[in-house]
Amino acid sequence: MEDFVRGLPKAELHVHIEGTLEPELMFALAARNGVELRFGSVGELRAAYEFHDLQSFLDIYYEGAACLLHEQDFYDLTWAYLERAAADGVRRAEIFFDPQTHTDRGVPIATVIGGISRALEDGLDRLGVSSGLILCFLRHLSAEAAGETLQAALPHVGMLLGVGLDSSEVGHPPSKFTEVFARAREAGLRAVAHAGEEGPPSYVWEALDLLRVERVDHGVRSLEDEALVARLAAQQVPLTVCPLSNLKLKVVDRIEDHPIQKLQDAGLLVTVNSDDPAYFGGYVGDNYLALQRAFELDHSQLRDLAANSISASFLSDDDKAELLAELDAYVQAAT
Ligand code: HPA
Ligand code: ZN
Repeated sequence: MEDFVRGLPKAELHVHIEGTLEPELMFALAARNGVELRFGSVGELRAAYEFHDLQSFLDIYYEGAACLLHEQDFYDLTWAYLERAAADGVRRAEIFFDPQTHTDRGVPIATVIGGISRALEDGLDRLGVSSGLILCFLRHLSAEAAGETLQAALPHVGMLLGVGLDSSEVGHPPSKFTEVFARAREAGLRAVAHAGEEGPPSYVWEALDLLRVERVDHGVRSLEDEALVARLAAQQVPLTVCPLSNLKLKVVDRIEDHPIQKLQDAGLLVTVNSDDPAYFGGYVGDNYLALQRAFELDHSQLRDLAANSISASFLSDDDKAELLAELDAYVQAAT
């Protein structure tokens, strides 16, 4: 079963590149760049990965990103993720990055986008992973700062697939970013947003109606609002669900309590993703496996989750059809 799950051709639609920074690479980059870390060893750092909510994670996640300074650092970070993703059967990755985490430390946005994009090009050539890059605005910062970030990114718009919204959710509703999302959509960028992770269903409504998002990241709290569930089901708005993240950040107490099957039973288009795999104890294959074990998923249920990830991607219809055919050939050969 583990081999079957890892080999399933799939798309990953919710992964923060800064959240793929493994402690070993963090220490290597810190040494290379002369950055002082608060932790004495990889073991000490890993031991600090005990979170009680989203904010307690974000504090350490932003701290870790401080060792990323040069174009090559962003390349190395992205390449390491792509190798792990490819080993987990990922054929398409739509990857978040948080430019403000870096520009606020004086790193030019061109350095960030350049390093990540160069690795993504090599990922297509050498690993067969196609990809897109989604610029996330940090919602705990001002709408004005988001606007400035979009402005700075526009010269690189050809390297971007879309915009997203992440960081501390509660108290920072999507409505704060209505204008900047409208400008991004006018520039031809796709729109997604984190909503309904810790925040209420009203944030999911706002993401749909004000930001006009095409996918909702997390969205698990949508279940608290029947009318919202009906809307998401009717329009087949994909949710990018991250089970191990929800476990580590105490959105659920036990993986067996995860609402993924409730979401599916309500007719929602659910995908499985890793969020911040270096911090949450597993890459996308581990997230599929955790669900498989908790809910005793069979081959056909796992195939359907992988098919959802492909359908929910921003690939063209032709590319989706090709990848879905590859998925079905794989399942047929393996079962
Ligand atoms: N939620 C909000 N912001 C984030 C996350 C998340 O799960 N991961 C990285 N930034
Ligand atoms: Zn996320």
